[in-house]
Amino acid sequence: MHVVSVASECEPWAKAGGLGDVVDALARGLGRTGSLDGPVDVFLPAYRSVALPADMPVEELRVAVPGPYGPPTQAHPQGIGQVIVRSVLTHGYRLRLVDFPAAFDRDAIYGHPDDAWRFGLLGRAALETLRAEARPVDLLHVHDWHASTTLVLRDRFYAADPIVGRGRLASILTIHNLAYHGWVAGPDLATLGLVPGDSVVARGAVGIDLLRAGIERADLVNTVSPTFAAQALTSEFGFGLDQTLRGKAAQRDLAGRPRFFGILNGIDPAVWDPATDPDLAAPYSLLDRAAKITCRADLLERIGFDPGDDGPVLGMIGRLDPQKGFDLLAGAAPDLLAAGARLVVQGSGDPALAAPFRALARRRPDRVVLNERFDRAMARRIYAGCDLFLMPSRFEPCGQGQMIALRYGTPPVVHRTGGLADTVVDEYLHPGAGTGFVFEHPTADGLAWACERAFETRADAAAWAGLVERGMAVDNDWASGPTAAYLDADRRAIAVAEASGAPGSSSRRLGPR
Ligand code: GLC
Repeated sequence: MHVVSVASECEPWAKAGGLGDVVDALARGLGRTGSLDGPVDVFLPAYRSVALPADMPVEELRVAVPGPYGPPTQAHPQGIGQVIVRSVLTHGYRLRLVDFPAAFDRDAIYGHPDDAWRFGLLGRAALETLRAEARPVDLLHVHDWHASTTLVLRDRFYAADPIVGRGRLASILTIHNLAYHGWVAGPDLATLGLVPGDSVVARGAVGIDLLRAGIERADLVNTVSPTFAAQALTSEFGFGLDQTLRGKAAQRDLAGRPRFFGILNGIDPAVWDPATDPDLAAPYSLLDRAAKITCRADLLERIGFDPGDDGPVLGMIGRLDPQKGFDLLAGAAPDLLAAGARLVVQGSGDPALAAPFRALARRRPDRVVLNERFDRAMARRIYAGCDLFLMPSRFEPCGQGQMIALRYGTPPVVHRTGGLADTVVDEYLHPGAGTGFVFEHPTADGLAWACERAFETRADAAAWAGLVERGMAVDNDWASGPTAAYLDADRRAIAVAEASGAPGSSSRRLGPR
């Protein structure tokens, strides 16, 4: 089996959130199983920020990509763009950087008015590369709306292609973020080379929702936790796509399983390990936790807090996005500070969400700190050095911070939603068996209530030690479950594609490799 993945992020090359970590970890994990014919190919835009080490051997392929990416020619009246695909074997997969400066040589990864055009180019360049190489590929794995362009453009322009066409190349769409759809309004359809009435946009349509189209076109669709998969089928959490997802879930694959489902993400225990983390002041582990206190003192000194104050230090890290519930923490802050807690907040994104913390930090620099940027080293020190880690997300397809916090011995306080509900056991409801604290209602009061329960447990040293140890012992390793679940899903997707595919498509498997 040969697997190709297309995504807008891949750690450590380009990352805005958890998506980047998953694309990297999954490609590496699948490669390690030994079940594939060679490494996974990962197509990623060659953003300005992507820096390859100078000594890495890079293979270059020039690919002409038809579509509105360059001047029209007689053969390509829509235009044609010249793309360089730079490939490097690294981290256990083959990273394939789609280099097209007009689209990707910019400051930010997202947020440009022509994002649909940019990610349309990514998808089409991936398809053209696979065609140019004429190497049989079995499975195309696309992530979120950005890479859903690959499926839409495949069905529009390459449906009968012997390499990438329908039925030849099975597909999985993984939804990490259901809130962003990639809506392309009618007048902008041309930036994808589409028009109403073609084979992928209905006649009279006012535009295309790329995520919805991806859900409809993928052989299998998953999201990143079982609880969020169930929630996504409801109008409350479905972001307008619940009906589309219910339709997909009602369809069955050849094994009789729903074609929409959840697979819980993991974390890479080698990447996230307090015993080897070079950014920490001292190493510690489940068996020897003594140095966690050194990491706490180091964090507090760095941010100007009194390391001698034993009151609870609460950490929160995330994209400054309404999803993450920074406003709930801002609302709970007065109560928490009054209870003797201190806050360490780190995030980048919408500056308006940071404003309350900026104001608090100005008034109480000894009790509130805001680090308004994406800072890898500081994030690790926060995971290690805090006493509690907060994730009051309104919704959370999976979440990674709570799994890292568990591994770093910092019990998480989370809203019972999505992957948070699947990964944290509430110590209040299950005394002596919990790994963190869970609250039901995404309100400032709900968060403050759960923090108070945590402070009570922390006052009992033995109960706290048990909680921390159980959390550190939780196995969220990609290799322990998620990788095998994706491998199984890949095989099921191939079966779906073959059953629904072009006549004679099964002969593909007998062809030259
Ligand atoms: C998105 C989701 C988050 C998930 C991550 C990786 O960032 O919001 O819940 O953990 O993708 O799948």
